Amino acid sequence: MPKVIAMAGKGGTGKTTLSALLLKYLITRGKTPILAVDADSNANLNELLDKKVGITIGEVRKDLKGDIPPNMSRDQYMEMKVHQALIEDSGYDLLVMGQPDGPGCYCAANQYLAMTMDHLADNYEYILVDNEAGMEHLSRMNLRSIDHLFVVSDPSARGILTARRIAELSKPLAIEIKQQVLVVNRTPEPLSDELAAKIKEAVAETPDLPLGGILPSSNELIHQEITGQSYLELAEDVPVVEKAFAMFDKVFEG
Ligand SMILES: Nc1ncnc2c1ncn2[C@@H]1O[C@H](COP(=O)(O)OP(=O)(O)O)[C@@H](O)[C@H]1O
Ligand SMILES: [Mg+2]
Repeated sequence: MPKVIAMAGKGGTGKTTLSALLLKYLITRGKTPILAVDADSNANLNELLDKKVGITIGEVRKDLKGDIPPNMSRDQYMEMKVHQALIEDSGYDLLVMGQPDGPGCYCAANQYLAMTMDHLADNYEYILVDNEAGMEHLSRMNLRSIDHLFVVSDPSARGILTARRIAELSKPLAIEIKQQVLVVNRTPEPLSDELAAKIKEAVAETPDLPLGGILPSSNELIHQEITGQSYLELAEDVPVVEKAFAMFDKVFEG
């Protein structure tokens, strides 16, 4: 059974950034193979990895409504298409979910998809899901439990409160969350005592969402994004990479 790691948090807080850094961490630590899932309908994890999107799972699902080759069952066809949708690289594969099904959805397709995802998942040690704010995709993908959920927030008391609310949204879903931590992202560098105290205070009010770590605002990340270079190529001594790796070590080991 692969370990499942997922992101949550309001748009723009840094979920995709953290996903890319986490992917780099897992590859560096030899925690492979990894299935990275871009579950945001405005997919962009691929951009941070400098990869082009081929077909998305949304398109595969649509395809299933049409004619399928006569010598194949629908689930065989689905399986083949999902494999075509996989973007393979060393240590990891990337799968892009694309648009969710709109009105008039062919709902059986979701069942085929869930089955296929189950088969696919067996091939990996880790599944990393970059979510949009909601967590609907997680149940759609047939994931029954999440080992580690990172809830990302901006460095404000209100942001942290919002993160807590988002974490609570996962409760009614039939998904067991084994560990969830808060990540306060994009803090000014150096972090003032005043802001550090404010974050501490806000975190103390969210006991079910302990602080995983604080990540500074980073010019290196902005540079990497603007120039379109893969985040996997960031040097390990870049401060934000060091801090992220230290946080991941702490969360996973202990
Ligand atoms: N620690 C950081 N330092 C500098 N820029 C960051 C940092 N984290 C995120 N960003 C930037 O903020 C924007 C939103 O981040 P993103 O990861 O796309 O958020 P989300 O996936 O939650 O919508 C991006 O332009 C990203 O480069
Ligand atoms: Mg994103």
